[in-house]
Amino acid sequence: MAPASTDLLYNEVIAAYEEEESKITIRNLLDKVTYASPVNFRESMQTARHRWFPYKEGFSPTFVRSFLKEFVPSAGQVIFDPFSGVATTLLEASRLGYSAYGFEVSPMSYSIAKTKAMVVDASNLAAFDQWIKFFTTDSLADSSHPPDHSTVISYFEESFLSALLSVKAFFLKIPDPNIQALFRLAFLNCLERYSTHRKAGNGLKRKTRLAYGTALESPLEQVRQTIISDLNRFKADLIQEPTLAAFSLEQGSCLDEELYPEGILFDAVLTSPPYANCFDYSKIYLVELWMGDFFTNQQSQKSFRSDSLRSHVHARWPDRHSNFGHELINDQIFQFLSDQPMWSSQIPTMIKGYFDDMGRLLSILSNRCRVGATVGLVVGNSYYGSLPIATDLLLTMIGRKYSFEPVRIDIYRNVVVSSQQFIQAKHPKYMRESLVILRKI
Ligand SMILES: C[S@@+](CC[C@H](N)C(=O)[O-])C[C@H]1O[C@@H](n2cnc3c(N)ncnc32)[C@H](O)[C@@H]1O
Repeated sequence: MAPASTDLLYNEVIAAYEEEESKITIRNLLDKVTYASPVNFRESMQTARHRWFPYKEGFSPTFVRSFLKEFVPSAGQVIFDPFSGVATTLLEASRLGYSAYGFEVSPMSYSIAKTKAMVVDASNLAAFDQWIKFFTTDSLADSSHPPDHSTVISYFEESFLSALLSVKAFFLKIPDPNIQALFRLAFLNCLERYSTHRKAGNGLKRKTRLAYGTALESPLEQVRQTIISDLNRFKADLIQEPTLAAFSLEQGSCLDEELYPEGILFDAVLTSPPYANCFDYSKIYLVELWMGDFFTNQQSQKSFRSDSLRSHVHARWPDRHSNFGHELINDQIFQFLSDQPMWSSQIPTMIKGYFDDMGRLLSILSNRCRVGATVGLVVGNSYYGSLPIATDLLLTMIGRKYSFEPVRIDIYRNVVVSSQQFIQAKHPKYMRESLVILRKI
C-alpha cells in the first residue's frame, strides 16, 4: 500500500484540478471526430501545399480556419505561432489575409515550412519542369556521402540506401535553391517508405513487412518514380496557387525573447507545443534529419535538443526559467512523481521543466499580446505513476500568473495510453487532448 503522504499528495493534486475545472467552461467535443479536430493531418494530406509533407503532429487546416474565424474576426490582424512546425497556422492565416509570425526550432520543419511558402512565376515553373525531365532520364550514376550516423544507415537495405544517395547527388547539383528545396522535400517524403523502419509511437520500429514497389523495377527506378510522382504533385499545387502572401518564420526557440519582432503586438496566438509525453522529435524524425543533412554531427542533434521545450528525457537541460511554472507542479506533483518508481528518474524534473518553459513562454506572450488577444494552445495531457498531468488545467493556472484569463477548454480526443496506465488510472477523464483558450487581460 502506498504511504499516506503519497495518497495525500495525489488527492491534493486532483482536488486542485477539480477546483480549476469548476471555474472554467469545458466543452466536450469527443463525439465530433471530424477534420475540425486540431491534430489531424489526414485533411492536410488532401490540401494543396500542406500535402507536401506528412507531419503527423500538424494541425488540420479546417481547425486553424475555424479558430481564426471565431477569435480573430478581421483579416490584417497579427497571428503568432511559437511552435510553428511545418507552418499550418502561418500558411492558413496568410491565405486568409492575416499577418503571420512564427518560430520553429527544428531545422527540418523550418525548411519544409519555407518550401511550402514558395512563390513562383511562369519561368520558375518552366525551369522546375525541365529539372523533372532531366531527373527522369538522368543515369543517376553519382552518389553522395552517407550520413555520419551508423544507426540511420542501418535503417536501409544497401540497395535502397545507394539509390537514395544517387538521387541526393543529383538534386544537390541543382543551382536554383527553390528547385533544389522541392527535390529535397520529395526526397524526405520517400525516406520512410524505403526504410526498414517506420515511425511508431515515440520512436522508430522495424517494419514487419517491407512494402516496396514492384520487384520488377530496380531500387533506383522505384525511388525515382516515387520522387517524380511527388514532384508532379508539388508542380500541380504551384500551378494552381503560384503566389501566397508572405509569412514570417524564424528558425529558433520561442523561449528566446530577443528573437521576437520589435514593436509588433499579436492579436491572437494559435499553437501546439510538444506534449509532455517524452516524444523526442529528433528521434522520431532521426532518418529525415540526418539523410536531409539537417544534422551533420552529434553536436547539431545536441543543440537542437537543448533549444527545444523540455518535453522528453533524452537531453539534460540546465534548470532554466525556474519559477515560471506553478507551485502545484513544483511542490505536490514533483514530490509525488519523485516518490514513484518510473522507467526514467528524469521524469519529475522533465515535468517541472516543461511547465517552467511553458510559463516562460506565457510570460513573454503577456508582453507581446495586445489586451483582449486570444491564445489557443492545443495540448495533450499525460499520465505518470498513476497521476494525471492535466496540462490543459495546469496551463490555465499558469496563465493567470501572466494576465491570461481562461475562456474555455475544448476537449477533442481521448489520449491513448498503455493498458497498464489505463488500469492504474483512477481519473481517466483527464486522458485527453484539448484546446485551451486564454484571453489577455
Ligand atoms: C506539435 S508540433 C507543432 C505542429 C504545428 N502545429 C503544425 O501544424 O505543423 C510542435 C513543434 O514545436 C517545435 N519546438 C519544440 N521546442 C521549440 C521551441 N523552444 N521553440 C520553437 N519551436 C519548438 C518542434 O520542433 C515541433 O515542430
